[in-house]
This record gives sequence, structure tokens and C-alpha cells, in this order.
Amino acid sequence: MNSRRQFLRSAAATAGALGLSRFSGLAAAAAESKIEILLNETRGIISPNIYSHFTEHLGGVIYDGIWVGSDSKVPNVFGIRRDLVEHLKKIKAPVIRYPGGCFADSYDWRDGVGPVEKRPRRTNFWAFSEKSPAIHRYEPNFFGTDEFMRFCKLAGAEPYLAANVRSLPAEEFDRWVEYCNSPKGSTTLADMRAAAGSPDPYNVHYWGVGNESWGCGGDQTPQEYSAAFRRFTAWVPGYGQQLNFIGSGPNGDDLNWTRGFFESIRQKEEDLFGKIYGWGLHHYAWNLSMGRTSDWDKGKGDAVQFSTGEWYELLHEGLRLEPMIDSHWQAMGEFDTQHRVKLIVDEWGPWYRPGSEATPGDILEQMPTLRDAVFSGMTLDLLNRHANQVAMGNCAQLINCLNSLYLAHEDRFVITPVGHVFDLYSGHQGAQSIRAVFSAPEVSYDRNGTPTPLPSLMGSASVRGKELLLTVVNADVTQAHETQVSLGSAGVASASARILTNTDIHAHNTFAQPDAVAPQSREISASGSDFTHVFPPASVTSLALRLR
Ligand code: AHR
Repeated sequence: MNSRRQFLRSAAATAGALGLSRFSGLAAAAAESKIEILLNETRGIISPNIYSHFTEHLGGVIYDGIWVGSDSKVPNVFGIRRDLVEHLKKIKAPVIRYPGGCFADSYDWRDGVGPVEKRPRRTNFWAFSEKSPAIHRYEPNFFGTDEFMRFCKLAGAEPYLAANVRSLPAEEFDRWVEYCNSPKGSTTLADMRAAAGSPDPYNVHYWGVGNESWGCGGDQTPQEYSAAFRRFTAWVPGYGQQLNFIGSGPNGDDLNWTRGFFESIRQKEEDLFGKIYGWGLHHYAWNLSMGRTSDWDKGKGDAVQFSTGEWYELLHEGLRLEPMIDSHWQAMGEFDTQHRVKLIVDEWGPWYRPGSEATPGDILEQMPTLRDAVFSGMTLDLLNRHANQVAMGNCAQLINCLNSLYLAHEDRFVITPVGHVFDLYSGHQGAQSIRAVFSAPEVSYDRNGTPTPLPSLMGSASVRGKELLLTVVNADVTQAHETQVSLGSAGVASASARILTNTDIHAHNTFAQPDAVAPQSREISASGSDFTHVFPPASVTSLALRLR
């Protein structure tokens, strides 16, 4: 039976249309659905960082995706793809995680600093596919810490660096922090940074301590990892900055890992919880077999060719994140009773089998469709609803890999349906999450002979002063849902909607057809405290309401 752990181990070893026509012909049952927005029931401020990203030296993410080189014909800023930077600014990208993923635990940060011509070439962790171009297999280190910092600065995002716990000593972690954060002119490494163009420190606040330490990050037990975590994070000089350490969380929803780590930290010293900023959760929806297998390869589905049942199954798998958050939060609280440690969902997204790559040879690249947009909206809503527990979310990954917001190859660049969702949802960043109660008919699909329900409408709401943002996915592939939106005693002064849908649930954006799935805007006539809105089938909607 293949598992994700085995997959990673083997990798290491081998080193348009709005869709209105579709639902206008269907009778939307008269306001059979209701969304009640409870303005007084707050759930906490939505950390902007929930809308963060993840980039890894993997396939076409760095080389071709982000980095094109300063002598490239592709429009670039200091070698970084200009289109990407512009779009990241538009969606207000808060944090970007780097350099992995599994790559992080095989990476020596020193390989990626200093004069480019002196940087070594190394075997990439993800070097197993002979179809990949050499630059993806044999890491040239053209892009390292300084290039990443420049990328973050251009995009207006904060860096989140993941340290190598598996194959470097703790001393090297101290040194990486020193390289990034020691004051101008203070140390040899600060001078080296200055020579690379940045006399001023980068002031990196987010530091991951390993990645998937139960697997590619060292095959550790939770107790071993706890010891390594403590060693890596003890007395690291802060250079006046708060260092937010993020621990490597479980394999899937393995509560033993979380309990083992937290128990072992408490055994040493309860106060240590005050030094742990976040606990990582990774959630990939990869098994579309309807429960027939748990084989990592056999369970996967196709990114573009899928049945209606597989549409629902992907969302069903995505929703597993909610009980994962709840159960891990509870388990953490058994030891960290004050809940000082927050959750960081630093990898999430669907994971399909190979075959839909926009650029053949880019490993783990897949073609995001409307299904992935609905999945992504649903996930971001879920994170918004857990604003009190989740301090950061990082979609895996930003470009040319898994749930990409963007696809790029040479001079071609396209925003995927997932990228549009981040745009539609960006108004939630930093707003107050409020409770919204959804009542809508469920859809039912055949899950290997068992009729299985799934909510049709799901979403979240937030408020900032007089601005209210309600985001809603309609998972139902056939039925529009006419919905009464009720705001209690508050009144609406004006409202507008942005809607992402298509008549074809498989629709996706390609280099040749970049706008097959693009948001459309509509003014809404809404006044008073209730109004009716029709959510098209298979859609993501963002409703911006101005309150009286
Ligand atoms: O995102 C791809 C890989 O998935 C990451 O490198 C790893 O952390 C996870 O297993």
C-alpha cells in the first residue's frame, strides 16, 4: 500500500460565462435557503496571514515560476517575474513560506547566498523525474535567501523561512537568523548580506522548525522532534525582533503526534509554550476513491477529467480540515491550557495524479479548475470561521504546483480560478469574523453505494466598520439557490457581487484561453435588513455590503 510518506521517501531516495444561462433555465426554488448574519456574534479578527502562500524549490515553482533571471526577455524586476509581483500586490499577499516543504530539510541556506557564480549545484530533493528539466533536478542556487527577500519585498509580503532540522545542526539555524536579522555592519554575516545588496536586516519574524518531521523531515517520533525543536529554538538571538517559531505538525490528523509533542514540551517546562508561535497542520485532499482505497497513488483523481461524484468527493475531503482544526486545537489545549500556541495551516489544497500539467515536466503541477476554486473558497471560509484558532494559512503552492494561483512558462502567465478566489476574498483580511448561519438544502451524492450529504451553500462573513463581506460557495453543480440574506437589525445601504462560475464545471484557464473562468461583477438591489440573492450552481461569490 503506497502512502504519502513512501512517496516522499522515494522522492528523497532518487533525489467566461457567468453560468447564468445554466441556472436561468432551472427553477431556483423560491428562497428555500437563508443566510443569517449575526453581527453581534464575533469570532475574532481574521489574521491577514490566513491568506498566505507557499513556495518551494520544487518543479517549476522557483525556476520559471518566480525566477526568470534579470537578463530574461520575460518582464522581470531583478530577475523576478513582474506579472507575479503585480498580482501578489493586488491580492495583498501577506506572508510567503519558503524554501519548502520537504526541500527545506535537505537545504543548506549557505548554498543560496554569496556571489551567484560561486554557488554550488546540488541534487534537488524533488529530482526523481527524468522528464523534468535539469534546472529542476539539479538545484543551481540562482535563487536563495536574498532573492527570496527581494521577491517578498516587491510583493509586499512577509517572509516565512523553514529551517533544516533533519540534516543541519542547530548552529546553522542560529547563523541563518543572524544572516537575516543581525544589524547593519554588526557581524560577518551582516556584511555578507550587505554585499548582496541589503545592509539593513531583513527582520524575518516567521521561522518554521523543520517540515513534516514525522516523515521527510527526519522520520522522527514526537518526543525526538520535541527535543530537536527545543534545541533549535533555545536562546536564538532575536536582534530586537520577535521570532515566531512554528512547529512541524502531524501527518494528516494524527493526534498522537500533536499530543506527544505538546506533552513532552510540558514535561520540560510549561512556560515553553510561550515561545511557540504556531503548530503546523497540512491538509491535502488527494483521495477521490470514495473510500475504496487509502493508497497514495491509486486514490488520486484527475485534475480536469472528473465526474460529478468526484466534484463532491473533493469538497468532502476538503471539509475534513474542519474537524482536524477542532480536534488538534482541543488536544493542544490539554497541555497548553492557555492556548498560547495557535494553528498554522501551512500547506493546504487538492492533490491530483500527474497528467494535467500546463508545462510537461513540471512535477506536481496540475491544472486548477472551477472545482478547485470552489474548494479554495470553501477552505478560506472555513479558516475565517476559525479566526480565533488559526493564525496563518498557506495555500500549496503559489505557482506551477498543486493548487496554484498562477501558472507560468517562459513569457506566458495566467491567473487560475484559484487565483481569482484569493482576489474575491482579500477583503476579509484583518476584518472581524462574525457568525453567519447557513440553512440550505444539502446535495447528496453516491459515495461507493452510500448516499452522502454535503452542504450546498457554505461561507463566512466579516465586518470592518460599515463594510461587510459575505463570501459563499455553492457546491451544488446543478441547482441555483435563491437565498434570503438577513442582517437582523442592521440595514444595507448598497451591495455588489463578484461571481466566479462557468457553465462547465471542468472549466479552467490556459495560456491560450486565460479568461475562461473570470469573475464578473454585478450591482445588487438591496435595502433594508433582508434581501434575496441567487447563488449560481458551482460558483464562488463575494458580496460586499455597505451597512447603514
Ligand atoms: O507541497 C508538496 C509537499 O507536500 C511538501 O514539500 C511537503 O511538505 C508535503 O508533503
